[in-house]
Amino acid sequence: MAASDPAEFWEERYRSSRDESGQVWSGRVNAAVEHEVAALTPGTALELGCGEGGDALWLAAHGWSVTAIDISTTALAVGAAEAERKGLADRIAWVHADLSTWRPTSSFDLVASAFLHSPVELPREEVLRRAASAVAPGGRLLVVGHGAPPPGAKLSHEQHGGPPLPTPDEVLASLELADGWTTETSALVDRSAVWRDGSDITLVDAVLRIRRSDVSA
Ligand SMILES: C[S@@+](CC[C@H](N)C(=O)[O-])C[C@H]1O[C@@H](n2cnc3c(N)ncnc32)[C@H](O)[C@@H]1O
Repeated sequence: MAASDPAEFWEERYRSSRDESGQVWSGRVNAAVEHEVAALTPGTALELGCGEGGDALWLAAHGWSVTAIDISTTALAVGAAEAERKGLADRIAWVHADLSTWRPTSSFDLVASAFLHSPVELPREEVLRRAASAVAPGGRLLVVGHGAPPPGAKLSHEQHGGPPLPTPDEVLASLELADGWTTETSALVDRSAVWRDGSDITLVDAVLRIRRSDVSA
């Protein structure tokens, strides 16, 4: 039976579900992250729930100085090894932390989270509110999540044990932001993908990008 403790669950997931490349995920940047960040001026970036670091590695390769947090040491080790291999090790700090108790201690030009979903305990709204507080004046918060369960999935996300999937506008509302933020993207975006059985499918990403005003409130 799968562990219900978040650290154990994710550690087990990363240890047991690797493919022949030794990874669980593709290792590539998420399409929505690439699309939303490609035109931004690089600076400091914080990534929450970085997994094996596909996004962190892409950010670093595009000039960002990245702090990447995850609860799984196995996932972080995969990312760190890849960073070493790509000559990006000095651009990414890999941080082992549980976001349930994590508190930001500095601010960043970009705070990003991609698919920070979990079938075990994860106070996602609370984590994202703290994430917003870590955005520097003039900086951005990017939240990418699943906008819909994969087509043909026998069970919905909720039935798998995850909370309901919020729309980008619902994510925005849950951030309970004060004045001084501008919404730059709030969209459900279709994405072509190859499903586990090899079939071509369309997934839906829920994408929210907001910018904090230059003047610190
Ligand atoms: C669905 S994966 C997404 C990984 C990565 N962002 C990506 O897009 O490939 C969710 C990630 O969140 C991490 N995570 C879940 N709960 C966490 C927590 N409480 N603290 C830190 N990371 C957590 C998991 O270890 C996992 O790497």
